Amino acid sequence: MFWIMRLSWFFSAAMVMIVLSPSLQSFPPAEAIRSSNLDGYLRFPGQITATDSLNRFSFRKASTFRNAEECSSNERKILGKTGVCDPSLVHVAITLDVDYLRGSIAAVHSILQHSLCPESVFFHFLVSETNLETLVRSTFPQLKFKVYYFDPEIVRGLISTSVRQALEQPLNYARNYLADLLEPCVRRVIYLDSDLVVVDDIWKLWSTSLGSKTIGAPEYCHANFTKYFTASFWSDKRLSGTFLGRKPCYFNTGVMVIDLVKWRRFGYTKRIERWMEIQKSGRIYELGSLPPFLLVFAGHVAPIEHRWNQHGLGGDNIRGSCRDLHPGPVSLLHWSGSGKAWLRLDSKQPCPLDALWAPYDLYGNST
Ligand SMILES: *[C@@H]1O[C@H](CO)[C@@H](O)[C@H](O)[C@H]1NC(C)=O
Repeated sequence: MFWIMRLSWFFSAAMVMIVLSPSLQSFPPAEAIRSSNLDGYLRFPGQITATDSLNRFSFRKASTFRNAEECSSNERKILGKTGVCDPSLVHVAITLDVDYLRGSIAAVHSILQHSLCPESVFFHFLVSETNLETLVRSTFPQLKFKVYYFDPEIVRGLISTSVRQALEQPLNYARNYLADLLEPCVRRVIYLDSDLVVVDDIWKLWSTSLGSKTIGAPEYCHANFTKYFTASFWSDKRLSGTFLGRKPCYFNTGVMVIDLVKWRRFGYTKRIERWMEIQKSGRIYELGSLPPFLLVFAGHVAPIEHRWNQHGLGGDNIRGSCRDLHPGPVSLLHWSGSGKAWLRLDSKQPCPLDALWAPYDLYGNST
């Protein structure tokens, strides 16, 4: 009975989205909903299957990317470690799901294109529902990668059951579990969202110093931090007291450098889960996988140059607004927000900066 009610709600939401947003009308409902303003998305139960996803997607094979001469593999030879434990590798984690697959593939493509040592980048793909391994392999035949199954049940019980929260995609929370999922020999990882492209050598981001901190990300200390939590959170000193003695600043969790050794040692997964349990028993923030990260890490983040997350390019699809770049150099372009470059390009109503995403797109049959 409950799922029928939910299903009818889903369909009403889908209709509202389609009516409100002319630019989305040419897309199947699932994609239209995915571009809503929510930090997650929903699936029609049972509608999307592995077969559907593979039929829906066809990607061209990327050209082969080879290491430059100066990419030394001496370290590997000395330590005799190969595979994922090779210490000369750069580790990147990205989620793969049916609706954002085109974005994830473009992100990988952009990283390879701008790396001096593309063969030294190892990709950790987090998936929940479908086996997309074959597709990745055929698109990037030489790619070093591993696919990890993230069980949605791990977070389902932790995501609050309010209506808006029910829209959340459990895979949004996979980033909380990288330290548990990845091999213990992986000591550092770059986590990247699926709606971005890297236009600089990822090695530069990889080699950023985190000092004594566990995570690094560009911080935005002028953003209004108050608004990420509810009034009842701020008025309860037992809860808001967590920020005492820190100078918390907003940061975007779509680009993070994570020291997995420290993460494991200090048990940050459990700390994040504890806040999610508190959220479930009484709302302390609006929806999203972001607030628990802010609760645990804000004020304890190693600041990374802003060039590594030029975010907000998604803008707001409903109002059709296009965003501009923030001033300063650019190493990574991030279409966070409700609009996505590939949806707008397909609808022939792109924002000017969407043209910067297009060269990395591998979607479609070879011409
Ligand atoms: C910050 O956001 C809160 C909650 O939305 C609001 O009450 C407050 O006035 C804002 N502060 C500033 C300086 O804009």
